[in-house]
Amino acid sequence: MSGPERSTLAGVPQISLTSVVRQATDADASEIARICTAAYRDAYRNVLPPGYIERSVTAFYNEPRVADDIAPSLPDWFGYQVVEEGGRILGAAGGGMTGPTTGELSLIYLASETRGRGLGTLLLKHVTDQIRAAGGTEMWVSVFLGDSAGIGFYRARGFQPKQTVRAAMSRVDDHIRSLRMLRELR
Ligand SMILES: CC(C)(COP(=O)(O)OP(=O)(O)OC[C@H]1O[C@@H](n2cnc3c(N)ncnc32)[C@H](O)[C@@H]1OP(=O)(O)O)[C@@H](O)C(=O)NCCC(=O)NCCS
Repeated sequence: MSGPERSTLAGVPQISLTSVVRQATDADASEIARICTAAYRDAYRNVLPPGYIERSVTAFYNEPRVADDIAPSLPDWFGYQVVEEGGRILGAAGGGMTGPTTGELSLIYLASETRGRGLGTLLLKHVTDQIRAAGGTEMWVSVFLGDSAGIGFYRARGFQPKQTVRAAMSRVDDHIRSLRMLRELR
C-alpha cells in the first residue's frame, strides 16, 4: 500500500492519523453530547425499550449536563476523557473512584463508524491508568444485560461478570438489569 491510507471502512478510505486520548475541555461538551447520544441510541436499539433510551440520554447526555460534568470532581469523577484524531473527537469515556482502592468505569462511547479499530481499548487504558494512579487495585463496570457487544468488549479486556443489579434509571415496571463486571488491576 502506498501513501498514508491504512484501511477502508464501509468503503471510505481512512487516512492514518494518530489517535490521542486527553482530558476533555469545555469546548468539547457539545461534541461529547452528540457522540454519546448517537452511540447510546445506536448501541441499545435492540437491547432496551425506546422510552428508557430517551430517558437516559436526556438525563445524562444533554449538552448542559455534559458541560457540567466536563471537569473532574475528585475522587469520584475524573472528568470526561476524549479520543481524537486530526482534531476530530471520535469518542468519550469517564470514570472515578468509588472507594480507596476501587475504581469505576462509568462510560465509553464511540462514534459508530469508528468502532473495531482499537479506540475503545485506548480509552479504557486511559481510564484504567487514572484509576491505578489514584490507588485503585480493582475496577468495575456496569453493562446492560443483553448488550453482547459491550460484554464481549469488556471480557476481551479481562473483566469477569460478577453479579446483576437493577440498572440505573430503571423503573420498577421495566425490569432493566445491568451486569457488574470486575477486573483486578495488578
Ligand atoms: C464497546 C466499544 C466501547 C468497544 O470499542 P472498540 O474500539 O469498538 O473496540 P476495540 O476495537 O478496542 O476492541 C477491543 C476488543 O474487544 C473485542 N470486541 C469489540 N466488540 C466486540 C463484540 N461486539 N463482541 C465481542 N468482542 C468484541 C474485540 O474483539 C477486541 O478484542 P481483540 O483485540 O482481543 O480481538 C465500542 O464499540 C462502542 O462504543 N460501542 C457502543 C457503546 C457501548 O456498547 N459501550 C459499552 C458500554 S459502556
